[in-house]
Amino acid sequence: MSILISPSILAADFANLQKEVEMLNSSEADYIHVDIMDGVFVPNISFGIPVTEAIHSHAKKPLDVHLMIVNPDNYLESFRRAGAEIISVHYEACAHLHRTVQAIHSLGAKAGIAINPHTSVNLLEEIIADIDVVCLMSVNPGFGGQKFIENTYSKVSRLRYLILEKGSSAKIEIDGGVNLNNAPKLIASGADILVAGSFVFSSTNPQQTIANLKSI
Ligand code: DX5
Ligand code: ZN
Repeated sequence: MSILISPSILAADFANLQKEVEMLNSSEADYIHVDIMDGVFVPNISFGIPVTEAIHSHAKKPLDVHLMIVNPDNYLESFRRAGAEIISVHYEACAHLHRTVQAIHSLGAKAGIAINPHTSVNLLEEIIADIDVVCLMSVNPGFGGQKFIENTYSKVSRLRYLILEKGSSAKIEIDGGVNLNNAPKLIASGADILVAGSFVFSSTNPQQTIANLKSI
């Protein structure tokens, strides 16, 4: 199966969101990655539920919502109602992760767990069989346009092994600093979904850039 691409709308022109979503609709993107930052879990604030709804009202691709927020349980239902197809919460933000995953599933969404660069993939051992996506952060969350952390490749390989070992169907998503230089090695290491923000939106032809990533 070919690699799935989830362009991050965080890097889009917010004054022309409808146009940006329509551009993604007619691209080869598989998802639209929606980054929610609360200024507490991460040192930055992006946007919230009404903007997610607005994106969804124009989107023809499923929304892949990445919650970089504390107490995500309080907002799962709202984001589901706003159109989230995948809801990813941070391992580091959830004391009762299993319950959170169950809550996401009970809303009819796919459940993802995002882990920070310092968090070991081994910590997912007991929950990997219950989830749909692992979002491996390849930068420290909070900002677009950061430099890719090289240690990610070995995390992808170890996570791929864990998924096989536990008979999990979880997909491996890579988030942060993804570009055409690191994408081939990420795919070779076992990645299924690539998030790309600034690399797509700051390119002169975003649709072509998405197609280039997709065709690796
Ligand atoms: C980082 C976000 C990423 C980010 C990716 O906190 O979770 O999704 O938007 O952007 P780039 O591709 O520019 O690193
Ligand atoms: Zn993200």
